[in-house]
Amino acid sequence: MLFDPIKIKNLEIKNRAVMPPMCMYSANEEGFVNDFHLVHYGTRAIGGVGLIIQEATAITPNGRISIHDLGIWSDDHMPGLKRIAKVIHDNGAIAGIQINHAGRKAKVNHPIGPSAISYGGDYQTPTEMTKRDIKETIEAFKDAAHRADKAGYDLLEIHGAHGYLIFEFLSPISNHRSDEYKDGKLFLKEVVEAISSVWPKEKVLALRVSAYEYVDHGATPESIADAINFVKDLGIDLIDVSSGGNILVKINAYPGYQLDLAKKIKDLTGLPVIGGGLIGDLALATHAIGSGRCDMVYFGRLLLRDPYVFINHAKDVGFEMPYPEPYMRGKK
Ligand SMILES: Cc1cc2nc3c(=O)[nH]c(=O)nc-3n(C[C@H](O)[C@H](O)[C@H](O)COP(=O)(O)O)c2cc1C
Repeated sequence: MLFDPIKIKNLEIKNRAVMPPMCMYSANEEGFVNDFHLVHYGTRAIGGVGLIIQEATAITPNGRISIHDLGIWSDDHMPGLKRIAKVIHDNGAIAGIQINHAGRKAKVNHPIGPSAISYGGDYQTPTEMTKRDIKETIEAFKDAAHRADKAGYDLLEIHGAHGYLIFEFLSPISNHRSDEYKDGKLFLKEVVEAISSVWPKEKVLALRVSAYEYVDHGATPESIADAINFVKDLGIDLIDVSSGGNILVKINAYPGYQLDLAKKIKDLTGLPVIGGGLIGDLALATHAIGSGRCDMVYFGRLLLRDPYVFINHAKDVGFEMPYPEPYMRGKK
């Protein structure tokens, strides 16, 4: 089941194993791709992952999580991004990219956010975004989506999770605005609308969400599903379900701890979902799909420590994955 193919719109993915976006903070201060990124993504593609979603890639310089984020805010980023998409394709996987604005969690000189409320810790207090900031940011999302298409990615993931800008609008903890954007769904809608106007209809548009904030007065699976339902007809095909990240709170994480959230979002929105969280073996992932809790599974830290977990261990769950030809003499 984990290794059954899946078709989302026109996109055929050879299995349901996903490498989720993971910031590597390894770009130079201009956000350019370098050899590390090619090796990092190429290796996971060789390892048999069906879908690779490139790390949060910044749509503006002041939307960077750190000054070492990858960037997609200028045409100068295109040659490097094309090389990532190509190395993923050449090695048999589908290439996705997550685009992001870090909002109040941007470690830059003048962060912006829906309201002037700090995330806490050593994070700065952001400046409340003006209507003009909002319009410019929506344009930057649109330009980034256009570049992602031209660079050759098959799937675009909007980062609407983990306390970055879009999620900040969606959460009552970080959005205390008094204008129409106090309903954070409006900002999400305008972002999705702008992206849909340039992202080809035949390609897949995904949205990553934090489906729960682990506090009483934060976003809930119901409020997040409501936001998804508000925008899904604008072209959202797939939801990548995560949680937390907008408030400093202790999360009781255990293998598969977010799978129930994935199921809830799937049920409340009717869209296919990617689920995961501390998945440390293929049996749990197979069970998550077999029991209908999600349609695909992401493997983050497992793929950091073992890029070849699928080619070496698919057989543990009854699937004979083709071994990369050049590595045949290493096969056990
Ligand atoms: C090093 C690292 C960087 C991450 N960066 C991102 C990111 O850029 N975007 C994102 O949505 N999630 C990010 N995450 C969260 C992962 O995508 C994933 O949801 C999380 O690690 C839980 O899955 P896991 O337990 O399989 O690792 C990151 C996680 C790690 C470990």
